[in-house]
Amino acid sequence: MNQRTQHLQQLDANHHLHPFSDLKAMHEAKKTRVISKAQGVYIYDNDGNKILDAMSGLWCVNMGYGQQKIIDAVNEQMHELPYYNSFFGTTHPPAAELTALLAEIAPAHMNQVFFTSGGSEANDTVLRMVRHYWSSLGQADKFTVISRENAYHGSTVAAASLGGMTSMHEQGGLPIPGIVHIRQPYTFEECVKTGGEIDRDAFGIETAQALADKIDELGENKVAAFIAEPIQGAGGIIIPPDTYWPEIQRICNERNILLIADEVICGFGRTGEWFGSEYYDITPDLMPIAKGLSSGYLPIGGVMVADRVAEVLMQENVEFNHGFTYSGHPVCAAAAIANIQIMQSEDIVERVRTNTAPYLAKAWQTLADHPLVGEARSLGMLGALEVVEDKASYKRFEDTAGVTNICRDFCFDNGLVMRALSGKMIIAPPLVINEAEIDELVEKAWRCLDLTVDAIYS
Ligand SMILES: Cc1ncc(COP(=O)(O)O)c(C=O)c1O
Repeated sequence: MNQRTQHLQQLDANHHLHPFSDLKAMHEAKKTRVISKAQGVYIYDNDGNKILDAMSGLWCVNMGYGQQKIIDAVNEQMHELPYYNSFFGTTHPPAAELTALLAEIAPAHMNQVFFTSGGSEANDTVLRMVRHYWSSLGQADKFTVISRENAYHGSTVAAASLGGMTSMHEQGGLPIPGIVHIRQPYTFEECVKTGGEIDRDAFGIETAQALADKIDELGENKVAAFIAEPIQGAGGIIIPPDTYWPEIQRICNERNILLIADEVICGFGRTGEWFGSEYYDITPDLMPIAKGLSSGYLPIGGVMVADRVAEVLMQENVEFNHGFTYSGHPVCAAAAIANIQIMQSEDIVERVRTNTAPYLAKAWQTLADHPLVGEARSLGMLGALEVVEDKASYKRFEDTAGVTNICRDFCFDNGLVMRALSGKMIIAPPLVINEAEIDELVEKAWRCLDLTVDAIYS
């Protein structure tokens, strides 16, 4: 390890409070990984080690690192207009042009966008917008938003409340009032509970029915909306049974509640469609977006709004008292425009659907033969391995988080970023990954699973 790396680690340990980290351990260990540069699907640490980034940073660098057109667009915009706001009747070329581009690629019924700085702010916006919507229709009692256990919608107070992670709720007295949670369609977890295979289609219907039951319990006139990720990301790449989403859509329509599809991960090609909602053929009323919008080059998010919702918000001369200094930031918007234009010119969504994702699915499935893997599932450019002690009985390890953390560390030390989530190893590689790189990813994953077996049974 070179001296500069040690110096940076020392600075970091002394001063940096990291997100989602054990602050004491980070402060004491002085072993933070220092990532200094990146190109394509690879990141490089400060000592020059090359690491395949199978998480696209934090599910965001969809077009890979080093995209010259994004870099140039940002540079030019910095010279032209580094900042102006979109409050009080002003706009600027990048924000205006990006709205039109988003309306072009979004589902046909969505033609309006509200900009934020990221996904959490997008979900804060969603909460305020759906309540404002019902209130504008004279139904202010339609206030409660239903979400799902183990969902992740961000880290602000509203977004973490919408999320269903108990570890987050425990810190800070969440959720805030007016947000409730129902079961998630997590098939493998159900197999773990029952100790055997289940009827997956029936389980999809059963978990969707939890939404109908909750609406009926609260009263249809009290419920504003249902929010869910098309595929739960940070919860563990939870791919619902095919029966789930059609039933959810039917219930939302039948009971007159808004459907919010959180597309922060699934949006911008990750499922092989522009949006995960299109993959599942659902018609959301609101879609929070972020991450892949700019491939993470600069922070930008937003909420795509369906025409029928926008019409109500625009029906009277009432201000929506909500907005952020950086809503539609010109440089971030320029990065997003360049990113989407590259995706269009390289036909990346089509390539993912017909080529990259099927290749990944086949290669990923080979990992199901590993003794540690109870299930290898993938959809589009998302994949998860369920790590188990006994495959036949779907038995997890007692210290399931400990085992996957060991595997995660082996991955990093052997040139691969996979994320560990208690009992699962997950990937969300850049959409531009090629076949040789997918082979490398899977070979390394297998080797690191082997190393994990050696470590836990030695
Ligand atoms: C589905 C989903 N929604 C919202 C967020 C929050 O986005 P941000 O971290 O940009 O605030 C995330 C972040 O991972 C996410 O996965």
